Amino acid sequence: MDKAKQTYLNLRASVDQLMREKDYDIALKKIEKALQNYPEDRSFIFQKAEALFLTGDLKKSYDITFNLLKESPNDIKVLKLCASQQYLFNNLEVNIKLYERILKISPKDFNSYIGITNTLIHLNKIEEAIYYSKKGLKIKNDSSELYNNLIASLILKKEFLEAFEKVKAIEDINPLSQIPPSYGVYLNEQLKENYQFKYLTEPYDYIREYNFNNENNDFMKNFNDFILDLPMEWEPKYKTTSNGSQTDSDLFHTYKDNSEVKTLINFIIKCVEEYREFYKKTEDLYIKKFPNQYSLSAWAVNLKSSGYQASHNHSSSWISGVFYLKVPKNLNEDEGNIKFSKHGYNFPKNSFVNSNKIIEAREGGLVMFPSSLYHETIPFKSDEDRISIAFDIQSI
Ligand SMILES: [Fe+2]
Repeated sequence: MDKAKQTYLNLRASVDQLMREKDYDIALKKIEKALQNYPEDRSFIFQKAEALFLTGDLKKSYDITFNLLKESPNDIKVLKLCASQQYLFNNLEVNIKLYERILKISPKDFNSYIGITNTLIHLNKIEEAIYYSKKGLKIKNDSSELYNNLIASLILKKEFLEAFEKVKAIEDINPLSQIPPSYGVYLNEQLKENYQFKYLTEPYDYIREYNFNNENNDFMKNFNDFILDLPMEWEPKYKTTSNGSQTDSDLFHTYKDNSEVKTLINFIIKCVEEYREFYKKTEDLYIKKFPNQYSLSAWAVNLKSSGYQASHNHSSSWISGVFYLKVPKNLNEDEGNIKFSKHGYNFPKNSFVNSNKIIEAREGGLVMFPSSLYHETIPFKSDEDRISIAFDIQSI
């Protein structure tokens, strides 16, 4: 092989590796350099669009993708990137058209069934979401994402019995799936069933409170001052924070040398140990398969008057929690407290059935609960800030 060819192949391999390792900034620099020598190379041009998209430069990424699509309108990779861009531009109808085109060219592309059903649910086009999730499941019959979208759609259509059958089907495929402890628990309540799921059946039993002992030091004050100095984003996009701001989710990693951060990490680790010990007699897989190796991510949330967190769960984590650093004084009953429930934010509600459990937000208090459990903050009125540290534990 001649030298020039070898140089090209080495460069190609190195960019591919950086993209696989998600080092998009470095990949981008390398691609720019490669394009100076190979300006017509379609692979590098596409990777530039991809890296720009993944580093958040949507506009530039779109311009490149648009030109690529003009040259080859049936290129699946380009169409998929274009669909993702249109989703973020909130052009959801265009996103659907693009997925339809992909599925016409490549009817077995099951990732596109996931993409199109996500968007259809977002647009409340439930019948179509059911059609595409069932079609996708014929191609990949153990896809957790497609089961998730099918069950969510059936619930929104109040087809509870069929949804329940699908929950049992995914449990057979993957007993650790987060679908039974979220949708399954909801359906148990709606259908007045008491079906025992292998992962867990009664999530309220797994809410446990702890208290940080602050008698002999200024931990709370110092930590509060530290958090107030951090950069925070007001009502971040795709998050549930309303009338409040939050840091990004690598708080514990970025500030791992801060002494208050270290203290809180140690406290959380101790609470996790106690939590596992406390529940050790259960047969539920939530505890029996509790990860021995886990990663801990955390973010601070500062809510202002009328602020709240809308109902949500953290379905990609195992156990979640919140530590209360600052709670306004003189709140009315339940204001600012955390409310757990078995229904997600947009599920059909029947006030005769829907249960909830409220836990008081206390300064120095820490609450842990299964990540699959829906939770929200009850809005409050006060001139004081309400500051909490939320955290997630994920299996590694
Ligand atoms: Fe949360």
